[in-house]
Amino acid sequence: MLDLRQKPDRPLVAPSVLSADFGAMARDAADAVAAGGDLLHVDVMDGHFVPNLTFGADMIRGLRKHLPGVYLDVHLMVDRPQDYVATFADAGANGFTFHIEVCDPYRTRGVEAAYLIDDIAKAGMLPGLCINPRTPTAWIEPLLDKLDLALVMSVQPGHGGQAFMPEVVDKARRLRDLGGDRLRVEMDGGLDPQTCVEPVRAGVDVLVAGSSVFKADDRAAVIRAMQQTP
Ligand code: DX5
Ligand code: ZN
Repeated sequence: MLDLRQKPDRPLVAPSVLSADFGAMARDAADAVAAGGDLLHVDVMDGHFVPNLTFGADMIRGLRKHLPGVYLDVHLMVDRPQDYVATFADAGANGFTFHIEVCDPYRTRGVEAAYLIDDIAKAGMLPGLCINPRTPTAWIEPLLDKLDLALVMSVQPGHGGQAFMPEVVDKARRLRDLGGDRLRVEMDGGLDPQTCVEPVRAGVDVLVAGSSVFKADDRAAVIRAMQQTP
C-alpha cells in the first residue's frame, strides 16, 4: 500500500473513477491501476454541495474488495462530511478529503473543520481539505499543520471533463511553501500531460486525472507522461 505521508520523488497520478465505466467499475478501476496509476481518486457527490450524484460507502467497499492493495483517495463533495467518517473508514477508505466551504468555525451551519480532521485521523484515515477554484488558501492555512493533504480544485467541482483553470496554480505554490515536505498538495480537474506541467513546477505532487486517463486509447502512456512531468 502506498504511504502518502512520504514525500514522493515524482508526481503521483490518481486516476479518478468518476470517468470510469460505472457498469464495469471494478474492471475499469483495476485497468487504470494496471496502467500505472499510483492510487485511485474516488469522488463522492451528494446532489447538494454539487448538483451531481455519484455513490457512497458501498462503492468504496466494492473497490476495496476488488483492489485490496490500492490506496483509495476519497474526495467528498458533500454538505455533511461528518456523517461519513465511520462508514467510509469501515468501507476501506485511506484518505478522507472534505471541502472547507461546508465548514463553519461557529458551528451554526456546518461542522468545525479542526474537529472533523481529528475524527478522520482517529478513524485511521489521512485527513485532507479541499478548496474550490474561488476559495482563497487563507481558509485552510491555519489548519495545514493538522492535515496530510491539501486539494486545490482546478475546475468547479461536480463533473469530469472540464477545462483546466490555470489561475489556481499560485494557490498550490503557496500551500507547498507553507506546508513543507510533509504535506501532499493535490490538484483535481482538467489535468493531462500538458496542463499538469505548471502545477508540478509549483509543487503539486498528487495529480488527479479522470477523463485524460479513462478516455485515452493508451492509458499507460498518459499516466507515464504525467509521472515523468519535467
Ligand atoms: C470533479 C472531480 C474530479 C473529476 C476530474 O468534480 O472532483 O475528480 O474526476 O475529472 P477530469 O480529470 O476529467 O477533469
Ligand atoms: Zn475529485
